[in-house]
Amino acid sequence: MTTAKIRQMKQAGEKITMLTAYDYTLASLLDEAGIDTILVGDSASNVVSGNQYTLPITVDEMIFLTRGVVRAAKHALVICDMPFGSYQISEEDAVRNAIRIMKESGCDALKMEGGEEILPAIRHIIQAGIPVCGHLGLTPQSVNQFGGYGLRAKEEAEAAKLMHDAQLLDQAGCFMIVLEKIPAALAEKVAKAVACPVIGIGAGSGVDGQVLVLHDMLGLNQGFKPKFLRRFAELGDALKNAVNDYITAVKDASFPSNEEQY
Ligand code: KIV
Repeated sequence: MTTAKIRQMKQAGEKITMLTAYDYTLASLLDEAGIDTILVGDSASNVVSGNQYTLPITVDEMIFLTRGVVRAAKHALVICDMPFGSYQISEEDAVRNAIRIMKESGCDALKMEGGEEILPAIRHIIQAGIPVCGHLGLTPQSVNQFGGYGLRAKEEAEAAKLMHDAQLLDQAGCFMIVLEKIPAALAEKVAKAVACPVIGIGAGSGVDGQVLVLHDMLGLNQGFKPKFLRRFAELGDALKNAVNDYITAVKDASFPSNEEQY
């Protein structure tokens, strides 16, 4: 999978699939199942490390997680999130961090949250030959500014800014844009207005593809139930049942059986 193929998929009207992954084992399964793109999201801060926000995760941690995913991906395009603080200080710092993540993780592309305010950094990174995926709408690295994880761009002014930002990112050469938690009608308008593919999460069906956090859609993260989330499995229950069976079998000495020992 390449960024060029991703763009062709939009032109051909073929929906693009993306899921997050943060380790070799699960990324291998996603790749074997035929996913188009794997996002090593900074949601790893929540999912892997148990932080409340995405802000604490570091460049070193993102590189460590992404390496495992890259080793697993034989087909899928691997995108790594640039973590909070790695592209806001200066353009030079942003390019340095972007090059470091590409070199040390082996990923195919980077994702960055924000519009016009980070455009100079995005332009410099693209000029360095690195494909960039934009991310607009609910951008969790700005949660402290937003004051929560509510629906974004409900009001006309914010919707107009989002459309403007999407067009700027498209013109700057972003190969893809993620739109998170915005009204479906606005997301569809954006997807029609830009040449690059638009991937939605909580942004309705009128976009060019969908992304979900793997642990949410598999039912591993059992407390998180926003309206946009469909659980495609209940692996949290399956996992707890398996662990309960293991505990019982060890306690009653039925595991290991004669066949399970040397
Ligand atoms: O970090 C992440 O997992 C993301 C997705 C929710 C798009 O940015």
